[in-house]
Amino acid sequence: MVIQTFRTVRDMRAQVTAWKADGLRVGLVPTMGGLHAGHIALVQSALAQTDRVITTIFVNPTQFGAGEDLDSYPQTETEDSAKVADAGGHAMFIPSASEMYPSGFSTRVVVDGLTDCLCGVTRPGHMDGVSQVVTKLLNQAHADVAFFGEKDWQQLAVIKRLARDLDIDTEIRGVPTVRDDYGLALSSRNGYLNAEEIEIARKLNVVLKKAAYDIAAGGFAIDECMKAAKALMKAGFDKVDYVECRDAETLELIDKADGRSCRIFAAAHVGRARLIDNHQVN
Ligand code: PAJ
Repeated sequence: MVIQTFRTVRDMRAQVTAWKADGLRVGLVPTMGGLHAGHIALVQSALAQTDRVITTIFVNPTQFGAGEDLDSYPQTETEDSAKVADAGGHAMFIPSASEMYPSGFSTRVVVDGLTDCLCGVTRPGHMDGVSQVVTKLLNQAHADVAFFGEKDWQQLAVIKRLARDLDIDTEIRGVPTVRDDYGLALSSRNGYLNAEEIEIARKLNVVLKKAAYDIAAGGFAIDECMKAAKALMKAGFDKVDYVECRDAETLELIDKADGRSCRIFAAAHVGRARLIDNHQVN
């Protein structure tokens, strides 16, 4: 199936303006491509909640650090567009790097506080790059609603905050994480893993679920649960970046279960992939 593809902000905006003039509500699904069922769930949510859905593909260079996988990130535009078309999406926006960052580009977007922890620390500059490109995409599209996955919970929290702080007139909605039959959160980077590494990767959600259960059940100190979870992960993963229990909204570290809604966040490396996941405690 063929889907309409816009490559310039101007053309994409003209379409959004026309849809809105017809009284249609527009949904935006930003991605970096390499689409899997998790991304398609965002498209489906958008289709259920809005009238016209634009899916974007842009492998944003400013959110990759030195030595990360920018150059090898999956580039599967044709397959991606076909998947979105099959799901019923209405259009793709696939800008070039120069369309997004023309020569002389010099503006940064930094969300303080929420980015001082988790991936903000272990991937310096990553969250700033995400904030920068998402601010641009939201401003470019002027969609009514934009959809982001709960798998990247910190990213979702940062995007909600910047949209509020900068008075961006697009509502930000989260979509639950899509997992494989073993609970592994789907990710474009899972494609880097061999069979043995996938087995290790599948332990991540099991460890998080157990820690969440132990904390919710009470009787276990949170730091003890985190230590135990880290030890379990170290037994398989090549490197553990973090396993932490934090407030779901403010991302403040939580050391005592005090009725606040909290989540466990983890990031770890196996083979060529760095995996992240998070799990609600109660
Ligand atoms: P990307 O990793 O391609 O993810 C695009 C969107 O899909 C994000 O909102 C992400 O949270 C969501 N997603 C990924 N895997 C998911 C899963 N298993 N279940 C549910 N949702 C999932 O995240 C980015 O791109 C970029 O940082 C971006 C926001 C596009 C900015 O460049």
